[in-house]
Amino acid sequence: MSEHATRRSLLKQAAALGAALAFGQSCAHTPVGPRTERRDLFPQGVASGDPAPESVVLWTRRAPDEGASAHRLVVEVANDEAFTRIVARGDVEVSAATDWTCRFLAAGLRPAREYWYRFVDEAGNNSRVGRTLTAPTTNDDRAVKFAFVSCQDPTNSALNAYRRMIYEDVRRPRAEQLSFVLHLGDFIYEMIRYPEDTPDGLDRGRRLRDGFRYPTGKKIRRFNYPTDLNDYRAAYKNFLADPDLQDARARWPFVPVWDNHEFSWQGYQSAEVAFSEVHPGQTLKVAASQAWYEYQPARVTKPGAGDPFEAPAVTNAPLTDRDARGVYQEPNNLIAIRALRIERAFRFGKNIDMILTDNRSFQSAPIDGSGLPSMEFGFTPETANDILEAGRVYPGGAPATIRIGEAEVPNPQINEPPQAYLGIEQMAWFKDRLRAAQAPWKIWGHSFGTLTWRSDPQNLPPEFATTWPSTEYGDYNRSYVVEHAEIFGMVRDEGITGLTTVVGDKHSFWAGYLSETLPPRAFEPVGLEFVTGSISQAGGAEVQAITFPRDNPLRPFYVHDRPDGTKQCALNTTILHGVRAALALRDTDDPAAARAASNPDNAPHLKFVDFGGYGYSTVRASPEELETEFVCIPPPLERSETEDGGPLRYRVIHRVSRWSPGERPELRQEIVEGDVELAI
Ligand SMILES: [Fe+2]
Repeated sequence: MSEHATRRSLLKQAAALGAALAFGQSCAHTPVGPRTERRDLFPQGVASGDPAPESVVLWTRRAPDEGASAHRLVVEVANDEAFTRIVARGDVEVSAATDWTCRFLAAGLRPAREYWYRFVDEAGNNSRVGRTLTAPTTNDDRAVKFAFVSCQDPTNSALNAYRRMIYEDVRRPRAEQLSFVLHLGDFIYEMIRYPEDTPDGLDRGRRLRDGFRYPTGKKIRRFNYPTDLNDYRAAYKNFLADPDLQDARARWPFVPVWDNHEFSWQGYQSAEVAFSEVHPGQTLKVAASQAWYEYQPARVTKPGAGDPFEAPAVTNAPLTDRDARGVYQEPNNLIAIRALRIERAFRFGKNIDMILTDNRSFQSAPIDGSGLPSMEFGFTPETANDILEAGRVYPGGAPATIRIGEAEVPNPQINEPPQAYLGIEQMAWFKDRLRAAQAPWKIWGHSFGTLTWRSDPQNLPPEFATTWPSTEYGDYNRSYVVEHAEIFGMVRDEGITGLTTVVGDKHSFWAGYLSETLPPRAFEPVGLEFVTGSISQAGGAEVQAITFPRDNPLRPFYVHDRPDGTKQCALNTTILHGVRAALALRDTDDPAAARAASNPDNAPHLKFVDFGGYGYSTVRASPEELETEFVCIPPPLERSETEDGGPLRYRVIHRVSRWSPGERPELRQEIVEGDVELAI
């Protein structure tokens, strides 16, 4: 192709992403004359995203000068940090239409290379310099390493985990450095507290920062929620003011997907939900999607041909008429949830096929549990859970009633579609991509994960018998049995190997096996799952240590009070080893004695669970082995003053060798440093 034809085809590619093109060295608007670095004019820093072998997306925001209706920005991409060898330039006008943000597709680059980029305005003011990396080609079989992260909230904590990530990465040989950061969502939290919302400016022991206020906003209980596009934009601007997040985005390309908080805490599809109160939120969903598009450099499909997100007109109308997987067919809903498509897939070198799903836009409405008796031990008996999850497609026919403990109650889901989150269309796409994946490691970026979280209260000693009048295991989380059976069944039946889900959302570290069912039914691992601890948002152990009532008899299953007055996370033990192990821990204060009392059938799918962990995780994929590292730091209440981001709590590696069809994956665990306490 001639350079002219190449440029034309790249321009088309860039336009499809809403990006301007940076290609070749000529650029009409390159400012001549003196340059000054003015980070204050680029207050959200710079970023890059979705690296491919020959291109990467570059991003910044130029805050408007007073009275300005637009600014013109040039991007320069260079082979060296001093910008002596510039390889691509491009220019674009930014304005209020994109909240002064811009995207460039930097193209014509070489694979698996390091590049530097900066933005220059019409007056010669420079942004900081960013570093980015292109992807290796599909025949490059060198090992690749990436990080996965989630759940950051600078309104109540510090992003020390990014400092630690940078500190470790710059000290590694180039071949062992991170190629990108997969962000699995909760990049922002839309429900925030202002310091004045609590008497002492503290939220469960965390200091609320006096960062920003929603321009409009609304209050539900003591939380503040966004109401429109400008509110969401304000959240991104404030979260991105964090210096450690800015340093991370300036060091690696990010690959972002959203979880729930980019739109609405308990929301699903276009429904806005807080404290179980449901409001039609089509306009809000579109606004949340627009702000995400404006602030995340990613190869996603948005409405409109140019850079601005042309928000489709929608009305906040009640959701009606579900399809077979619970997606509401109300036209405004369909328009709102399809306004920005973030599901995507890419090959990364020879060793990784990455598939990223949107787990929230097509998620079914939750089970209506209002008529169900609640069990004192807060789990749901397994059979009842399966009936509720499967709804009208429960194998053998949905029963009219469900037994929960001693009560037989009407089945509220008897006419409902199953609990689901991919939707029919995305499920078909996902299965196609998984079948087509050629790399040894098929990585599914999954915002909230698939591992069953259960315990064995049927084994409680008589003193607790009233809390669990059932002979079954108890399930805690929404388990999406129908969709997971469909996917894991396909993986098993078609002999697909190397499937590994990497997960955020849970504010805890987990390592385990994907299995459609657990004992007393078959335990058949078909893949692996790794969940990363939150970057900073509060996890279960931190919250329960403060809020779990001292006189609640179930306390030993959540909080272990040690004789010296300190606390440990007994929930880890309850989930990994069952209730008798948690009681042994209470009685002996000895983790080994607790593990000796383990019920091996409770969680054969779990190797590691820590609700007290914060930090980040990495994956290293080579042709024969996958290695996942958990890097755990203490609760990041205040910003670390040291360059390393503060102390480590522990570092744990799980390795798995490539397995063949018909074989089971086998995890090997190595505690490299620190004390994992009750996480094993
Ligand atoms: Fe989160």
